[in-house]
Amino acid sequence: MATTDVWSAYSEKVMEHFRNPRNVGDMENPDGIGHVGNAVCGDIMELYIRVKDSVIADAKFKTFGCGAAIATSSMVTELVKGKTVDEALKISNRAVAEALGGLPPIKMHCSVLAEEALRAAIDDYRKKSGKTLEGRGAG
Ligand code: FES
Repeated sequence: MATTDVWSAYSEKVMEHFRNPRNVGDMENPDGIGHVGNAVCGDIMELYIRVKDSVIADAKFKTFGCGAAIATSSMVTELVKGKTVDEALKISNRAVAEALGGLPPIKMHCSVLAEEALRAAIDDYRKKSGKTLEGRGAG
């Protein structure tokens, strides 16, 4: 594949979120933290959520990884804000990739990292707050 083909494989939105990622950084006393990694490529992602009245009020991330991992981290933090925890659990890696205008097939696994980080953060939130994984009783 020529260099120009590789560039054209990424949507403008992917490039924009890679260059100007939203919600990067630490969160003080988050309600849930998700740490995930891909053993094959070695990329790692941390996602933090703040939950108020079962709604994700804020989300931040730190990603040591490829451009697609950074763009999908950025997008997933944007997608979850304002959603209930149960709604956020329904966000799939495909939804994240679609919100970015698509990813090349070889980079779809990067969006899986974003979905896994979100699930891990929600799981952590529910464990800390004593809620079940099914979200019964609150979220
Ligand atoms: Fe590892 Fe993208 S290459 S997450």
